[in-house]
Amino acid sequence: MGPRVRFASRNPGKLREVREILAAFGWGVDPLPTRFVEPQTDNLRAVVRAKLAVLRDLSGPVLVEDSGLFLPGLGGFPGVYSAYIAEIWGGPKGFRPLLRALEGAPRTAIFRTVAGLTVDGRDHLFVGESRGTVARLPRGSGGFGYDPIFIPEGQRRTFAQMSPEEKNRFSHRGRALRKVGRFLLRPGPADAA
Ligand code: IMP
Repeated sequence: MGPRVRFASRNPGKLREVREILAAFGWGVDPLPTRFVEPQTDNLRAVVRAKLAVLRDLSGPVLVEDSGLFLPGLGGFPGVYSAYIAEIWGGPKGFRPLLRALEGAPRTAIFRTVAGLTVDGRDHLFVGESRGTVARLPRGSGGFGYDPIFIPEGQRRTFAQMSPEEKNRFSHRGRALRKVGRFLLRPGPADAA
């Protein structure tokens, strides 16, 4: 059995994607279901650092991540509040209030993931971004969360209309986790640029 990292998340969609992405680096991923009390902050890095602080004493590498959809047309909203907004407006409701709020506003969108890895008591952060636009109506049934309304730059389909491999190629999580994968293979300075 190859090397393994524990991923502290309760989101099955994230676990599946993290597994797919790190498999390419020869790393297996075990779930570590953890309920975090997230700090009140408008900063993904601060959320990730707070999560890592809870896990730092565990043995072996432990991975966390926090993601958000930032819409410049709405002043960066929902950003770190993405989980809450998805809960009340997502799913079968199709993000209708969010789409209405965007009418007449620029539809550009940035999906951002900050991944955090704690190894031997040291924390490392890795950032990945996917730029794109918000679709006028939800499309597709793949993925999770905001995938039916996010179209990555240069593409016509939403993340939810793509295969898992395609989404990972363009996604914020794919970009952040490939940095994690490279770091796990060859530890050096974390690439949190
Ligand atoms: P968190 O990182 O769990 O706080 O995620 C914030 C919100 O963004 C949640 O509602 C997630 O479902 C959503 N989200 C995170 N990553 C993705 C993604 O890759 N696609 C679509 N929605 C996502």
